[in-house]
Amino acid sequence: MSRAGYPRVASFKTAGALRSHLQESRISLAFDDDSPPAEGSALARPIEVDGVRVGNRFCILPMEGWDGTREGLPSDLTRRRWRHFGLSGAKLIWGGEAVAVRQDGRANPNQLLLTRETQPSIEALRTELVAAHRQRYGPNADSDLFVGLQLTHSGRFARPHASDRAEPLAAYAHPFLDRRFAAGVAVLTDDDLDRLVDRFVDAARLAREAGFAFVDVKACHGYLGHELLSARERPGRYGGALDNRLRFIRSIVEGIRASAPGLTVAVRLSAFDTVPFRKDAAGIGERETSASSYRWAFGLFDEDMDVALADARDVLGALERLGVRWMCVTAGSPYYNPHVQRPALFPPIDGYEPPEDPLAGVARQIDATARLKAAFPSLVFVGSGYSYLQEWLPHVAEHNVRNGLTDFVGLGRMVLAYPELPADVLSGTPLARKKICRTFSDCTTGPRMGLVSGCFPLDAHYTAHPDGATLRLRKRAVEDQRTNA
Ligand SMILES: Cc1cc2nc3c(=O)[nH]c(=O)nc-3n(C[C@H](O)[C@H](O)[C@H](O)COP(=O)(O)O)c2cc1C
Repeated sequence: MSRAGYPRVASFKTAGALRSHLQESRISLAFDDDSPPAEGSALARPIEVDGVRVGNRFCILPMEGWDGTREGLPSDLTRRRWRHFGLSGAKLIWGGEAVAVRQDGRANPNQLLLTRETQPSIEALRTELVAAHRQRYGPNADSDLFVGLQLTHSGRFARPHASDRAEPLAAYAHPFLDRRFAAGVAVLTDDDLDRLVDRFVDAARLAREAGFAFVDVKACHGYLGHELLSARERPGRYGGALDNRLRFIRSIVEGIRASAPGLTVAVRLSAFDTVPFRKDAAGIGERETSASSYRWAFGLFDEDMDVALADARDVLGALERLGVRWMCVTAGSPYYNPHVQRPALFPPIDGYEPPEDPLAGVARQIDATARLKAAFPSLVFVGSGYSYLQEWLPHVAEHNVRNGLTDFVGLGRMVLAYPELPADVLSGTPLARKKICRTFSDCTTGPRMGLVSGCFPLDAHYTAHPDGATLRLRKRAVEDQRTNA
């Protein structure tokens, strides 16, 4: 049992035990009783889209490590993470990690930055990933490996100079988030956004020259591309009607098409959102306000997922008309509703105890992806939020791909702890239980303390890292404070 009273996933020793728990908790989540077979699993089936062949249905989701240099270059830790992505056996690498297109859009002073100067080092990340993949899986193994780069501007969550100093550049004044995250929020003007579109297009061109097969124009997690989609009350060319709210992404996509032909454009979208959550007196997450009066979400989910996804359907329809076919579905934001975005049993240090069984959060993202896949069958979908499934991840993943609920299963935190999980599943090797991510959230707590991010509890490299010791000390101090209070 966790502090919040939800049973640990590791306690479900049989499919029957998990199924009864889901039924009792009214969580709708289907899965196969058995692990995927070593031969002939749906997860092992290649997919071909517009002449691009991707060798299996595992995708590595983008994950930053807060470990680049001040100049935006990768460090040894960054290179190690990308090598692990290559070793994982997954054939789709969705962006590696969020890379800022401009200095003022970095989410932290250690985020990678793509400029003419840093481009060779970011290209080297890709080549190291591909080399690791070939070394492990054979000299031609990269023929069906599809590697992209995620491009971002962090908008209201920008902290380009110091990890403890917010320098927000928002899409609009937000009555809840302005108060919570920073005073003196600057709102980007239409001319600023025009210039930023050009910067995204320049960065996409650099990514193509660096050998990336696609770029992801990031539209999720509260960052600028996402926030603009909910800018209903913003005046001018980038706010109000959907056509205006889509202008930023549409202009970037069109700009890339014109100046980087041949480069595939993909979009990672927070397909639904909630009102901001905060800690209640007992430390559990609670809504900061009621959904009925909240006007600032893109895809506000309260109780009905079909209603929530109306915004996402509008955007996907427009993207489909623009020729975008690759979509990665995610939800919410790690800043104001982390339980929605990355379901976990143990909250990050600045978070709250889960207000629901984290399996409900997993099921919600799966449901949203499945509904969007059904509405847009010719788009290619990657689902997110699977790591909390732990031992049961392969069972759910196989079920979902076989039944067309998603095309790819994305893996985030799980590959920080257990990079070879896709290869083990595909070869029918039993999972290494000691490497399974248990969602302790240290990979989120680290950066919130201004430290690097990695799997501190399970990856020996991070356990031994000096930031590992700092993290443990500071977590203990917080725990002592809590017990003495
Ligand atoms: C340490 C960490 C860094 C992340 N960095 C990014 C990022 O750079 N870009 C992004 O789109 N999502 C990022 N995410 C979100 C993940 O891609 C993913 O959506 C989330 O972890 C849920 O998937 P999971 O359950 O497999 O972990 C990050 C998540 C974590 C834990």
